[in-house]
Amino acid sequence: APLRLDVVTIFPDYLRVLNLSLIGRAAAEGLIDLRVHDLRAWTHDRHRTVDDTPLGGGPGMVMRPDVWGLALDEVLGREEEGRPATAPEPPRRQVLVMPTPAGEVFTQRTAEDLAGADHLVLACGRYEGIDARVAEHYREAGVEVRELSIGDYVLNGGEAAAVVIIEAVARLVPGVLGNPGSVVEESHSRAGLLEHPVYTRPVTWRSLEPDPVLLGGDHGRVARTRRDQALLRTAVRRPDMVERLDPAELDAADRAV
Ligand code: ADE
Repeated sequence: APLRLDVVTIFPDYLRVLNLSLIGRAAAEGLIDLRVHDLRAWTHDRHRTVDDTPLGGGPGMVMRPDVWGLALDEVLGREEEGRPATAPEPPRRQVLVMPTPAGEVFTQRTAEDLAGADHLVLACGRYEGIDARVAEHYREAGVEVRELSIGDYVLNGGEAAAVVIIEAVARLVPGVLGNPGSVVEESHSRAGLLEHPVYTRPVTWRSLEPDPVLLGGDHGRVARTRRDQALLRTAVRRPDMVERLDPAELDAADRAV
């Protein structure tokens, strides 16, 4: 079955970028099943209210747990179409993803983990966030809940974060990416190093030339040069990543760099 993705938001149009390019093609080809829902569909008042003032005071607005509860009960509990309710259900891993700057940091490891799920529900909060009892309730109900931050900066809402998370996860689904080799080689993969710089023709451009080793056809020397460049680049740009490198993964030539 394709990876099922449900996004609940008060700005469904924000997610329309996902219909473009790679992710859009994957959805059109049935590799992922992406559905976007308007949270206001679960309101019952004339003004379709989704927020209220924070208990205890303070600035901004907080999203109401009752509206979110109705929405998530339905989106999490939905039966697969065409499957009789009595048929035995195959084991299905469902994850409730709640983007928030107060969450654990979303990394390539998180993306790899989420790509192994069958169903992701992304609950996009706006304003100062979603009433904290929503995450608490679904956790207590046995749902796997992941409150995720895409980085140490504050967005106006979870929508941009949901787009980031969906793109990072969907490209790991088999068949979505044209070239599966790109998934293993790229930055932040298991090697723990940034990717080496890349070059193409023309060989000389504005008097700039890449390392001539890349033109020599010696695959061993090419690999060594790229590894050196990756190490240098990582040391300069991401000293934190160098500190976390497993010393057992460094060879003598690495140490010379
Ligand atoms: N919502 C607001 N800021 C966010 C962030 N940095 N990551 C995820 N969701 C957010």
